[in-house]
Amino acid sequence: MQQTFYDAVGGAETFHKLTARFYEEVAKDEVVRPLYPEADLGPAERRMRMFLEQYWGGPHTYSEERGHPRLRMRHNPFVIGPIERDAWLRCMHVAIASIDEKTLSPVHRKQLIDYMEMAAASMVNSAI
Ligand code: HEM
Repeated sequence: MQQTFYDAVGGAETFHKLTARFYEEVAKDEVVRPLYPEADLGPAERRMRMFLEQYWGGPHTYSEERGHPRLRMRHNPFVIGPIERDAWLRCMHVAIASIDEKTLSPVHRKQLIDYMEMAAASMVNSAI
């Protein structure tokens, strides 16, 4: 069987690191942080981690707990314009950059960045 992206980049440990670093940035970000309804970012971090693990070929815990991702619909309550998208992407770029070269090869890094840029663009629901 072909190895999944999830396995190729170090599995659970890498996705843990990625989402932990991402939410560390979100916590400090003046644009993105206020969008989160809860004081504790822990549950949001866990949902994001489960989603990404599932998307990249890891365990399907996200859908077992939450059903179909329907991410665009789940983001409808939040106004996401170009400013929010760029702030979100900045946090994600920092998180991806924090994963070392040995774990995340240049090819896999590009795949991850391309996906995040595409996904963030598709989440935009406001012109401003
Ligand atoms: C949930 C913001 C893009 C994946 C959320 C939440 C906010 C948010 C405020 C709610 C968290 C909560 O209820 O505690 C944003 C902003 C984005 C963005 C401002 C800018 C583009 C993305 C992208 C992805 C993503 C590109 C995936 C690659 C998720 C997931 C959840 C979530 C998986 C949890 C959904 C669930 O409730 O199961 N996001 N998000 N988000 N976001 Fe985003």
